[in-house]
Amino acid sequence: MDHELGTLQSEALAEIANAQNVIELDQVRVKYLGRSGLISKLSESMRSLPKEDRPRVGKLLNEVRSALDRAFADKSEAFAAQRDLVALDDLDETLPASPVRVGALHPLTQLQDQAIRIFRRLGFTMAAGPDIETEWHCFDALNTPPNHPARNESDTFYFPDGRLLRTHTSTVQIRTMVADVPPIRVIAPGGAYRRDEMDATHLSQFNQLEGLYVDKRVTVADLKGTLEYFVRELLGPKVETRMRPHFFPFTEPSLEMDVRLPGVNAGKWMELLGCGMVDPAVFEQVNQRRADQAYDPEAWTGYAFGMGLDRLAMALFGLPDIRLLIENDQRFLAQFNS
Ligand code: PHE
Repeated sequence: MDHELGTLQSEALAEIANAQNVIELDQVRVKYLGRSGLISKLSESMRSLPKEDRPRVGKLLNEVRSALDRAFADKSEAFAAQRDLVALDDLDETLPASPVRVGALHPLTQLQDQAIRIFRRLGFTMAAGPDIETEWHCFDALNTPPNHPARNESDTFYFPDGRLLRTHTSTVQIRTMVADVPPIRVIAPGGAYRRDEMDATHLSQFNQLEGLYVDKRVTVADLKGTLEYFVRELLGPKVETRMRPHFFPFTEPSLEMDVRLPGVNAGKWMELLGCGMVDPAVFEQVNQRRADQAYDPEAWTGYAFGMGLDRLAMALFGLPDIRLLIENDQRFLAQFNS
């Protein structure tokens, strides 16, 4: 039996060494170590051995089995290493890697960030309000009478409960003043919604940037100076501006500011923003809601402005169609990766 085991071991090791591939190796494994393989058969025949020989032969059998186990493991590892080598054979690690595409901020976001940075330098802080608003915040508090056309079902998205999608970011003026006492100096970028037919110059959702400054003795001169500084920082020191009288229910006097564009649309005047001095009627509405006189119109004055960022982006980048801003077309967006 000892002799038989010795022969079996050397034959098995030779066959393992000769196996040309994993399939052959597996066949050898089944032949020797399988459930009805040669090792199993030998251990069955141990039963016919004299009792005193059994422990020694049993031990020998175990040694042979683990020697074969090790040989099989080594050989299949060698096959795996060989497969890896073949797979990597035509790999040229000196070739340049495939380029990683780096994303960039949306052009509107870039423009908004730029605007925010300029106002922050002037001491404005950020304010925000919800896109879903009450009629009071959007219209009543802003001195807009019930019969005003902007309040029409055909102009504004209303919810069944009477709330609405804010038609402008001026709602944030009201929310800020109801929450805080003056002096106030905030900007509020955000979405606004109107029931406009979508076309090359209209979207039903667009982006505004609101500003509000309330302090002692704020004048139109402060408003004009601040806005002109803003425009020059954003569009360059040579940019021309003009202000025209206008009407908004919540400012008195009210103005619109135009800029003569640099770049793609050089020479054209474009309406940039609406603005004006906060109407005392707005302060009164806020006082009423706060139930105090924090915004006493005799003590405080202020200015407000609101600009359309989408239109500005269109003019600045020379976009023929406002819908380019929401289509997520990579061919368009990739032009703003800088
Ligand atoms: N809310 C006005 C609009 O959407 C703009 C505006 C803001 C005008 C603040 C005056 C003061 O057209």
